[in-house]
Amino acid sequence: METAPQIATPIPGADAADGHLFASLAPQRLFSMEGKVVLITGAAGGIAMGLARGFAAAGARLLLADYTDAVHERVAQFRAAGCEAHGLVFDVTDPVAVAAAVAEGAAVWGRIDVAINNAGVIVRTPFLQLSPEEWQKVIDTDLTACFLVAQQAARLMVKQGAGRIINMGSIMNHVSRPNLVPYVSAKAGVSGFTRAIAADLAGTGVTANALAPGYTITPFSQAADKDFNAFVSGWTPARRWGRPEDIAGAALLLASDAGAYINGHTLYIDGGFLSVTR
Ligand SMILES: NC(=O)c1ccc[n+]([C@@H]2O[C@H](COP(=O)([O-])OP(=O)(O)OC[C@H]3O[C@@H](n4cnc5c(N)ncnc54)[C@H](O)[C@@H]3O)[C@@H](O)[C@H]2O)c1
Repeated sequence: METAPQIATPIPGADAADGHLFASLAPQRLFSMEGKVVLITGAAGGIAMGLARGFAAAGARLLLADYTDAVHERVAQFRAAGCEAHGLVFDVTDPVAVAAAVAEGAAVWGRIDVAINNAGVIVRTPFLQLSPEEWQKVIDTDLTACFLVAQQAARLMVKQGAGRIINMGSIMNHVSRPNLVPYVSAKAGVSGFTRAIAADLAGTGVTANALAPGYTITPFSQAADKDFNAFVSGWTPARRWGRPEDIAGAALLLASDAGAYINGHTLYIDGGFLSVTR
């Protein structure tokens, strides 16, 4: 008969050292990102602002990356607020630029602890009119870029013996609606890619997970459209759109010690959107 795994008592870690029953599970320790280096792509965008604020509040040092110079204004904002931040301007779909930027980012503080593939684009074209260029642009930005950035970051993280990769998905990882063929295809791929690299990185100390927001108010979204706004607020059990800060809490879970045993997972942050039907 197989013997059951033994539960270690006391729990390994700080509790044993300080004789305290629960100190190591204090949220300020469990969710701390103190000194951790976090790379966020698409960092000039809406959700990225929520992510960056959350990680800054938890003590992280930020590598803010985007292909627009606007990212430098963000860096200045975070520095002014007392957070260590560095800007990287590159196109996530360009393999050569990605390799150079990840190397530049790693050189700033000597490591990258968390890489968040957040850059994304959307095209809303009916399938029968969709051009190969539109298809390719979305696949390149929303899926292939996850591969490019994650691979460069993971090579570094494997050497470090630790790291977290977080790929930005969407409720479209799981469902669909009209006129979003490349986006739905790319985002569904994000869940598969995340599971696949979690398997390949087994035993390295590097985890890979995906975050999948529901409708979240950013320049990307259609919150200004009255009918669509009514649909989202009416359908979502939370009765509101998501906010970039809603995504930050989930990202902190996956990136911190609190998420050490979460791997290959897609975490939906959708106010219950996917849980209901008519
Ligand atoms: N807003 C939503 O409702 C929502 C819902 C689910 C998932 N998402 C996902 O969240 C992520 C962020 O979305 P957002 O709403 O903050 O969008 P956003 O448009 O505000 O931000 C996207 C950022 O990505 C950058 N970017 C685009 N292509 C790039 C490239 N090739 N290289 C470098 N940077 C590039 C843009 O410059 C922009 O700053 C995306 O992956 C999106 O699919 C958004």
